[in-house]
Amino acid sequence: MSFIGKTKTFLGLNALKNLVSDSMAIDMGSASTIIAVRGRGIVVDEPSVVAVNKVTGEVIAVGNEAHKMQGREARDVTVIAPLVDGVVADFERTRTMLDHFVREARSGLSHFSRRAIMSVLSEVTQVEQRALLAAAEEARISRVYMIEEGQAAAIGAGVPINDEKAAAVVDIGGGTTNVAAIISGSIIASRAERIGSSDIDVAIMDRLRRHRGLTIGVQTAERLKLELSSATEPFDPSKKLNVRGRDVQTGSPGAVDITAGEVYTITQPIIRRIAEEVRTLLADLSPEVAGDIYDRGLIMTGGGASMEGLATYLTKELGLTARVADDPRFAIVRGLSQLYEEPLLLRRVARTEPHPLIDTEATAFET
Ligand SMILES: Nc1ncnc2c1ncn2[C@@H]1O[C@H](COP(=O)(O)OP(=O)(O)OP(=O)(O)O)[C@@H](O)[C@H]1O
Ligand SMILES: [Mg+2]
Repeated sequence: MSFIGKTKTFLGLNALKNLVSDSMAIDMGSASTIIAVRGRGIVVDEPSVVAVNKVTGEVIAVGNEAHKMQGREARDVTVIAPLVDGVVADFERTRTMLDHFVREARSGLSHFSRRAIMSVLSEVTQVEQRALLAAAEEARISRVYMIEEGQAAAIGAGVPINDEKAAAVVDIGGGTTNVAAIISGSIIASRAERIGSSDIDVAIMDRLRRHRGLTIGVQTAERLKLELSSATEPFDPSKKLNVRGRDVQTGSPGAVDITAGEVYTITQPIIRRIAEEVRTLLADLSPEVAGDIYDRGLIMTGGGASMEGLATYLTKELGLTARVADDPRFAIVRGLSQLYEEPLLLRRVARTEPHPLIDTEATAFET
């Protein structure tokens, strides 16, 4: 028996595998990248942005560090989001960003094997999925499993894996809304639309520029959304915030007051489109499945689900109870992590065959 064979027998294969490998769960979204490592919990939660030197094209900062520069960049620096609407828009920068976060997530022990379960949008194309896989390959992950977001979100929101009754989950991220109906851990219907919470930021910026003559930065728009937005009529529509930016006409610094009532009118069309997405999916389901979902209600995940009044709004619009999962931003990564405990389900639901990539040493330990 070889040395590795003997050691395997002595330690037990799984113990050895865990000693030498990081089992990662990666939710790389258009707004943030969240990575959990088996046994250590969430180790990365940073904005999905990179700062780039405009002259050399070199990436000079990633994640939190790049986010701090956004809107206040030095002359030759620009901060960009390499993922747009949940898919790879800038391959090189996505690769660099993922590589950076994976290094951050890595524990001191594991040097030569990393495997990852990554979430992908339901309606991602083969080309888009290949781009993500290639990025993972370059971040030296030896095995990559890709799971549809809806599946991961349902598991992470506490829907039991062997539940024979249907559940419906809507994940509202920065750039996308993903709705899925699930039975026994498998997706029976899903929809993904490229609309999300960041569209509210963009709508706020647009409205202020066109109606109030003030150009504001994306971080200011985000702050307005977090502090004033609500999906139902605001409790106090006159509640206001003074925001600063640049006057459209004079080009000089300027400021205006924005009320919760104004933010509400900006937010409404986007919230309505999200509700429409859910309604369209529900309308496609068989009566039995619809009945299960009526009993259980709709589960909301993703950062956008935290918007005040959104559960109440969806409950009213759709005529069934909607509730926000615990820690909704982490639901997907939680679901992905739980799949490590369910190897059979993982094999069944992964969109790609286990993908032996470049790390040849690691294959000695794979089953
Ligand atoms: N309380 C809140 N109200 C409204 N929006 C919120 C709130 N908290 C977080 N968000 C928004 O949630 C979004 C981030 O959510 P999340 O991390 O799920 O997105 P993502 O997974 O990166 O994006 P995607 O899944 O679309 O690629 C941001 O746009 C953020 O502004
Ligand atoms: Mg997401």
